[in-house]
Formats: sequence, C-alpha cells, structure tokens
Amino acid sequence: MADTLLDYETEAAHYDETRGGVPRAEAAAAAVLRLVPPGARTLLDLACGTGLVTGRIVRPGLKVLGADAAHAMLLAAGRRLPGRVLRADARRLPFPDASLDAVGAVWLLHLVPFTEEIVAEAARVLRPGGVLAVTVDKDAAHDVGSDIDALLRPHRAPGAAHDRAGRVEALAAAHGLAPAGATAFTGHGQGATPEGTARKLRAGYYASWFRGDRAATDSLATAVAALPDQSRPRPAPEYRLAAYAKPVSS
Ligand SMILES: C[S@@+](CC[C@H](N)C(=O)[O-])C[C@H]1O[C@@H](n2cnc3c(N)ncnc32)[C@H](O)[C@@H]1O
Repeated sequence: MADTLLDYETEAAHYDETRGGVPRAEAAAAAVLRLVPPGARTLLDLACGTGLVTGRIVRPGLKVLGADAAHAMLLAAGRRLPGRVLRADARRLPFPDASLDAVGAVWLLHLVPFTEEIVAEAARVLRPGGVLAVTVDKDAAHDVGSDIDALLRPHRAPGAAHDRAGRVEALAAAHGLAPAGATAFTGHGQGATPEGTARKLRAGYYASWFRGDRAATDSLATAVAALPDQSRPRPAPEYRLAAYAKPVSS
C-alpha cells in the first residue's frame, strides 16, 4: 500500500476517524498490553501517530511514551498526551542502551523497507527481559475472504511484505530477541467496501502490486466498482501482533 511518511503529514487531520477511531485503538492497546511483561515499568510506543492507541496503553505502574517521525501526527499526539511524546525516527531513538522495558509498534513495519534497522534499534534500547511487540502481516490481514478479496487476491504479494512474520522473527533473532508470544486485535472500522477499495486503487494505494501498470489498476478498479453493495463494509480484519523478548542473560 502506498502509505508513506509524507502521507501522514497530510493525513493527521482525518487519521483517527478513518482508522477505526476509539474501538480500533482500544483493541490495539489491549493487544499490546497482553504481550508486555507484568512487571514492565516503561513502554515506548513507536510510530505512535496521533496517540490514539498510545493513550489507551494503560496499566498501573507502567509509564508510556510515544515517538513518531511525522510532525503533524505528533502535534495531535502531543495534544492528547502532553509531555509524553517525542519526535524520533524509529531507526535512531534518543534513549540509552538497555533503558526501556517494552517497545510497541502498531502498524509501522509494513510501511518501511528498513525493518532490520528498527528491530535492531528496539533491541538496543530494551533491557534484558524487555519485550518488543509489533504488528506483522498487516496487508495479509486485509484478506478476509470477501468478494473484494477474490478480485484482489491474485494481485497481492504477501511474500514481499516488509512486515511478514517470518522475516521479522529472523531479524529479531539476528539481534538477540526470541519469540515471546503473539496475539491479535480486531480492526474495527477497517472492513473494506467496494467503493472505497475502487477509490484507493484509482488513487494509487496499491501501485506497488502493479509496478506502475495503470491499465491493470484501472481494470481491477472497474471490476471492484461493479460488485454489489458498494457501500457495505466487508468483515473487519484481525491484525496480528508478535512479541520478541531480550533474554535476561544477554
Ligand atoms: C499507520 S500509522 C500508525 C499510528 C499508530 N501506531 C496507530 O496505530 O494508530 C503509521 C505511523 O508511522 C509513522 N512512521 C513512519 N515511518 C516512521 C519512522 N521511520 N519512524 C517513526 N515513525 C514513523 C508515521 O508517521 C505514522 O504516524
């Protein structure tokens, strides 16, 4: 999908209502908390966006901070979580080695090709016993078996996803992090409609699937636009969140 960092400078204004609002954020925050060790005292929510999820990661004794690279997203997060957010690229975090108990990243790894740098940086800032909890296989979660998916599936390229679970696990292992559980959360409000999908196709959201072949994109958009119930959302996706822990002995 053509989500780029630049998009988020313009998307901040309508991000919350187009990404499932509070129900999606509550589900995501609860999923992060399920993977964070009970004794954790500090958590950094990487790519915190507008802070909608960050502000709902709440547990007694747990201090939660947010970091994001996009100025406009961070402005919104700062209004929501004053004094608790900072501007930072996930590849270069302004935290000392072994200084945090948990790092979360909801909907980040699918966006960028530099997965390894992000995983390495998270591993650096985690304390022994600390946990990295990240969404994986995000794009694949969007295939819920609907009539839209029947049309889109032949064009999807799950093997190329930056956040595919096997890749993230291998990168985590390369940086000393071991699998430490997984969970899922419902993407409330994220069920696709044919009209929305056709619009996204025409706007180039899925351009990477077609390698710039405009005619193929338009033909798929036309097929999606011919499906019944154009404005009826299909089932919401279930997003996967995987955890990787830094061994206590390392
Ligand atoms: C899809 S949003 C997710 C926001 C939030 N985690 C949520 O679930 O609502 C992706 C976020 O990643 C941020 N982002 C993208 N690349 C980044 C990077 N290299 N470092 C930090 N943040 C980044 C974007 O600015 C955007 O706010």
